[in-house]
Amino acid sequence: MGLQSPELRWFKIFNEYIDLDNIPYKCLNILDIGCGRNAKWIYLAFNLYLSEKERYINRYVGIDIDLKALVPEKGILGELAHLIVADAENLSRLLKDTYHLVVMGHPPISTYRERGKWKKIFHEIYKVLNRKAFLILTSFWIPDLIPSIYLLERSRFLIIHKGRNRYPGNQFDISDDGERLIEDKYIVVARKL
Ligand SMILES: C[S@@+](CC[C@H](N)C(=O)[O-])C[C@H]1O[C@@H](n2cnc3c(N)ncnc32)[C@H](O)[C@@H]1O
Repeated sequence: MGLQSPELRWFKIFNEYIDLDNIPYKCLNILDIGCGRNAKWIYLAFNLYLSEKERYINRYVGIDIDLKALVPEKGILGELAHLIVADAENLSRLLKDTYHLVVMGHPPISTYRERGKWKKIFHEIYKVLNRKAFLILTSFWIPDLIPSIYLLERSRFLIIHKGRNRYPGNQFDISDDGERLIEDKYIVVARKL
């Protein structure tokens, strides 16, 4: 599993956890929050996943606060994606369209503990979503997983799955508490009602 290319692993994640039956559009708007240097893999994975289902990417937006993370991704994706250097706290001011699918890979919730910050970000995400949109959040450890579930519920998302991801990546470290840190170890799937 660990040796698999990231877009193929994400392709499996989408197949496993997204059900497009309730989203009656051919062309979908996709949002990747805190995309970092994963934007290219997530874009490719959505491309594979949607084309197999005869659906297409209409608009692909990746947001990250860190310019350095986005420069290489802009070089690779070019015109295919709108990669924006911005704080996700300002999403509804930045974006005009509404979105059908959202990915948040490893949001660093426990690292950036600024009071109210993540609460605001999840509220902002909720605002820019289409009804019945899917959100997929992954985490490499429990300290980010638990607050993310709480924050999603507080932001009125319906959680439809939470727990171990069937398609995790590699172990890259071990926490001070002895938890094995594994890419996309946990997954939370939520919907806007
Ligand atoms: C742990 S990295 C994950 C990157 C990528 N999603 C992945 O799964 O590998 C977290 C990313 O979130 C970005 N980030 C943190 N706070 C943010 C904010 N308020 N708005 C937008 N991006 C943010 C960071 O710059 C970083 O690129």
